[in-house]
Amino acid sequence: MGSRRAKRIAAKQKGRRKTPRRELVLRLLQKMPEKYSGVRGHSRLCEIAAEEIANQLRKKGVEIDPKFVSRAAFAHDAFKQLGAITKETAIAKNYFARKGFPEFAETLSATHALQKLDPNKLEKISLPKKIIIYCDNVCRGVPIIKGGKIVGWKNSIFSVEEAWKTVRDRINKGHVEDRQILGSNAREFVLTKRIERELVGMGLDSLRLIRKVRKKFNKKER
Ligand SMILES: [Fe+2]
Repeated sequence: MGSRRAKRIAAKQKGRRKTPRRELVLRLLQKMPEKYSGVRGHSRLCEIAAEEIANQLRKKGVEIDPKFVSRAAFAHDAFKQLGAITKETAIAKNYFARKGFPEFAETLSATHALQKLDPNKLEKISLPKKIIIYCDNVCRGVPIIKGGKIVGWKNSIFSVEEAWKTVRDRINKGHVEDRQILGSNAREFVLTKRIERELVGMGLDSLRLIRKVRKKFNKKER
Protein backbone atom coordinates (compact mmCIF):
# COMPACT_ATOMS: atom_id res chain seq x y z
CA MET A 1 0.00 0.00 0.00
CA GLY A 2 2.79 2.32 1.15
CA SER A 3 4.93 1.57 -1.87
CA ARG A 4 1.98 2.18 -4.17
CA ARG A 5 1.57 5.61 -2.61
CA ALA A 6 5.31 6.28 -2.92
CA LYS A 7 5.17 5.26 -6.59
CA ARG A 8 2.24 7.60 -7.17
CA ILE A 9 4.09 10.51 -5.55
CA ALA A 10 7.26 9.71 -7.52
CA ALA A 11 5.24 9.61 -10.76
CA LYS A 12 3.63 12.90 -9.89
CA GLN A 13 6.97 14.50 -9.18
CA LYS A 14 8.56 13.17 -12.35
CA GLY A 15 9.29 16.10 -14.61
CA ARG A 16 8.70 18.60 -11.82
CA ARG A 17 11.20 21.40 -11.82
CA LYS A 18 12.30 23.69 -9.04
CA THR A 19 9.94 26.64 -9.21
CA PRO A 20 9.89 29.85 -7.15
CA ARG A 21 6.77 30.58 -5.13
CA ARG A 22 4.13 32.71 -6.81
CA GLU A 23 4.33 35.29 -4.00
CA LEU A 24 7.96 35.99 -4.86
CA VAL A 25 7.09 36.83 -8.46
CA LEU A 26 3.96 38.74 -7.43
CA ARG A 27 6.02 40.92 -5.08
CA LEU A 28 8.39 41.82 -7.92
CA LEU A 29 5.48 42.75 -10.16
CA GLN A 30 3.85 44.80 -7.42
CA LYS A 31 7.08 46.72 -6.88
CA MET A 32 6.91 48.05 -10.44
CA PRO A 33 6.02 51.72 -10.83
CA GLU A 34 2.37 52.49 -11.60
CA LYS A 35 3.05 53.24 -15.23
CA TYR A 36 3.88 49.54 -15.61
CA SER A 37 0.46 48.43 -14.38
CA GLY A 38 -0.27 47.14 -17.90
CA VAL A 39 2.71 44.78 -17.54
CA ARG A 40 1.10 43.23 -14.46
CA GLY A 41 -2.06 42.45 -16.44
CA HIS A 42 0.01 41.09 -19.32
CA SER A 43 2.02 38.91 -16.91
CA ARG A 44 -1.14 37.53 -15.33
CA LEU A 45 -2.55 36.79 -18.76
CA CYS A 46 0.66 35.02 -19.84
CA GLU A 47 0.53 32.99 -16.62
CA ILE A 48 -3.01 31.79 -17.32
CA ALA A 49 -2.25 31.10 -20.99
CA ALA A 50 0.93 29.12 -20.25
CA GLU A 51 -0.88 27.01 -17.66
CA GLU A 52 -3.71 26.25 -20.07
CA ILE A 53 -1.29 25.29 -22.87
CA ALA A 54 0.74 23.07 -20.54
CA ASN A 55 -2.43 21.41 -19.20
CA GLN A 56 -3.75 20.76 -22.69
CA LEU A 57 -0.44 19.25 -23.81
CA ARG A 58 -0.12 17.15 -20.68
CA LYS A 59 -3.53 15.64 -21.35
CA LYS A 60 -2.15 14.61 -24.76
CA GLY A 61 0.75 12.82 -23.06
CA VAL A 62 3.41 15.51 -23.42
CA GLU A 63 5.79 15.65 -20.46
CA ILE A 64 5.51 19.19 -19.19
CA ASP A 65 5.27 20.84 -15.77
CA PRO A 66 2.36 23.35 -15.87
CA LYS A 67 3.40 25.03 -12.62
CA PHE A 68 6.96 25.67 -13.82
CA VAL A 69 5.85 26.98 -17.21
CA SER A 70 3.07 29.21 -15.89
CA ARG A 71 5.29 30.65 -13.14
CA ALA A 72 8.02 31.45 -15.70
CA ALA A 73 5.41 33.12 -17.92
CA PHE A 74 4.25 35.14 -14.91
CA ALA A 75 7.85 36.22 -14.18
CA HIS A 76 9.09 36.93 -17.70
CA ASP A 77 8.60 40.72 -17.49
CA ALA A 78 9.23 41.15 -13.75
CA PHE A 79 12.19 43.47 -14.31
CA LYS A 80 10.85 45.33 -17.32
CA GLN A 81 11.27 48.74 -15.70
CA LEU A 82 15.01 48.21 -15.35
CA GLY A 83 16.10 48.73 -18.91
CA ALA A 84 16.18 47.59 -22.48
CA ILE A 85 14.92 44.11 -23.26
CA THR A 86 18.31 42.36 -23.22
CA LYS A 87 19.31 44.13 -19.99
CA GLU A 88 16.14 43.34 -18.05
CA THR A 89 16.24 39.74 -19.25
CA ALA A 90 19.82 39.41 -17.96
CA ILE A 91 18.79 40.95 -14.62
CA ALA A 92 15.88 38.50 -14.30
CA LYS A 93 18.15 35.58 -15.15
CA ASN A 94 20.71 36.58 -12.51
CA TYR A 95 18.06 37.25 -9.89
CA PHE A 96 16.38 33.85 -10.12
CA ALA A 97 19.70 32.00 -10.46
CA ARG A 98 20.90 33.66 -7.25
CA LYS A 99 17.66 32.71 -5.50
CA GLY A 100 18.40 29.05 -6.28
CA PHE A 101 16.33 28.52 -9.43
CA PRO A 102 18.92 28.14 -12.21
CA GLU A 103 16.68 26.21 -14.60
CA PHE A 104 13.89 28.72 -14.12
CA ALA A 105 16.36 31.55 -14.75
CA GLU A 106 17.61 29.83 -17.88
CA THR A 107 14.07 29.42 -19.20
CA LEU A 108 13.36 33.12 -18.69
CA SER A 109 16.45 34.10 -20.61
CA ALA A 110 14.89 32.98 -23.90
CA THR A 111 11.78 35.08 -23.59
CA HIS A 112 12.98 38.19 -25.34
CA ALA A 113 15.65 36.60 -27.49
CA LEU A 114 13.39 35.75 -30.42
CA GLN A 115 14.27 38.80 -32.48
CA LYS A 116 17.91 37.75 -32.59
CA LEU A 117 17.31 34.04 -32.89
CA ASP A 118 18.60 32.15 -35.89
CA PRO A 119 15.33 30.72 -37.34
CA ASN A 120 17.13 27.42 -37.98
CA LYS A 121 17.67 27.05 -34.25
CA LEU A 122 14.03 27.46 -33.24
CA GLU A 123 13.47 23.69 -33.07
CA LYS A 124 16.27 23.36 -30.53
CA ILE A 125 14.62 25.64 -27.96
CA SER A 126 13.05 23.82 -25.01
CA LEU A 127 9.27 23.41 -24.87
CA PRO A 128 8.82 25.66 -21.77
CA LYS A 129 10.73 28.42 -23.57
CA LYS A 130 8.58 28.04 -26.68
CA ILE A 131 5.39 28.23 -24.62
CA ILE A 132 6.54 31.41 -22.87
CA ILE A 133 7.61 33.06 -26.12
CA TYR A 134 4.26 32.12 -27.65
CA CYS A 135 2.29 33.50 -24.69
CA ASP A 136 4.31 36.71 -24.66
CA ASN A 137 3.43 37.35 -28.29
CA VAL A 138 -0.27 36.46 -28.27
CA CYS A 139 -1.07 38.09 -24.90
CA ARG A 140 -1.09 41.74 -25.74
CA GLY A 141 -2.09 45.09 -24.38
CA VAL A 142 -4.19 47.26 -26.63
CA PRO A 143 -3.92 50.96 -25.80
CA ILE A 144 -7.01 52.81 -24.59
CA ILE A 145 -6.82 56.17 -26.28
CA LYS A 146 -8.54 59.37 -25.24
CA GLY A 147 -7.87 62.71 -26.91
CA GLY A 148 -5.07 61.17 -28.96
CA LYS A 149 -3.24 60.02 -25.83
CA ILE A 150 -2.78 56.58 -24.32
CA VAL A 151 -4.67 56.59 -21.00
CA GLY A 152 -4.52 52.88 -20.21
CA TRP A 153 -4.18 49.37 -21.56
CA LYS A 154 -6.62 46.58 -22.16
CA ASN A 155 -4.95 43.20 -22.01
CA SER A 156 -6.24 40.20 -23.90
CA ILE A 157 -5.16 37.04 -25.68
CA PHE A 158 -5.36 36.94 -29.47
CA SER A 159 -4.66 34.58 -32.33
CA VAL A 160 -1.15 35.07 -33.76
CA GLU A 161 -2.63 36.95 -36.73
CA GLU A 162 -4.79 39.24 -34.56
CA ALA A 163 -1.87 39.88 -32.18
CA TRP A 164 0.32 40.88 -35.11
CA LYS A 165 -2.44 43.26 -36.26
CA THR A 166 -2.53 44.98 -32.83
CA VAL A 167 1.22 45.64 -33.16
CA ARG A 168 0.85 46.96 -36.73
CA ASP A 169 -2.03 49.20 -35.65
CA ARG A 170 0.03 50.72 -32.85
CA ILE A 171 2.90 51.43 -35.21
CA ASN A 172 0.68 52.78 -37.98
CA LYS A 173 -1.15 55.06 -35.57
CA GLY A 174 2.16 56.44 -34.35
CA HIS A 175 1.95 54.97 -30.84
CA VAL A 176 5.28 53.27 -31.33
CA GLU A 177 7.93 55.75 -32.38
CA ASP A 178 10.54 53.45 -33.81
CA ARG A 179 9.34 52.06 -37.13
CA GLN A 180 12.26 49.62 -37.14
CA ILE A 181 10.28 47.75 -34.52
CA LEU A 182 7.89 46.76 -37.29
CA GLY A 183 10.55 44.71 -39.08
CA SER A 184 11.79 42.92 -35.98
CA ASN A 185 8.23 42.26 -34.85
CA ALA A 186 7.31 40.85 -38.26
CA ARG A 187 10.17 38.40 -37.93
CA GLU A 188 9.11 37.53 -34.40
CA PHE A 189 5.54 36.78 -35.48
CA VAL A 190 6.69 34.44 -38.26
CA LEU A 191 8.57 32.47 -35.61
CA THR A 192 5.61 32.65 -33.19
CA LYS A 193 3.42 31.13 -35.91
CA ARG A 194 5.95 28.32 -36.32
CA ILE A 195 5.84 27.69 -32.56
CA GLU A 196 2.03 27.60 -32.73
CA ARG A 197 2.10 25.00 -35.51
CA GLU A 198 4.39 22.86 -33.40
CA LEU A 199 2.18 23.21 -30.30
CA VAL A 200 -0.93 22.41 -32.35
CA GLY A 201 0.91 19.34 -33.66
CA MET A 202 1.38 18.25 -30.05
CA GLY A 203 -2.31 18.64 -29.32
CA LEU A 204 -2.94 22.32 -28.54
CA ASP A 205 -6.42 23.58 -29.39
CA SER A 206 -5.66 27.26 -30.01
CA LEU A 207 -9.30 28.40 -30.21
CA ARG A 208 -10.12 26.69 -26.92
CA LEU A 209 -7.02 28.33 -25.45
CA ILE A 210 -8.27 31.83 -26.37
CA ARG A 211 -11.78 31.11 -25.08
CA LYS A 212 -10.65 29.67 -21.76
CA VAL A 213 -7.94 32.25 -21.06
CA ARG A 214 -10.23 35.22 -21.79
CA LYS A 215 -12.89 33.79 -19.49
CA LYS A 216 -10.44 33.10 -16.66
CA PHE A 217 -8.66 36.44 -17.01
CA ASN A 218 -11.90 38.41 -16.91
CA LYS A 219 -13.00 36.55 -13.82
CA LYS A 220 -9.84 36.87 -11.71
CA GLU A 221 -7.83 39.75 -10.33
CA ARG A 222 -5.57 41.37 -12.86
FE1 LIG B 1 6.03 40.18 -22.07
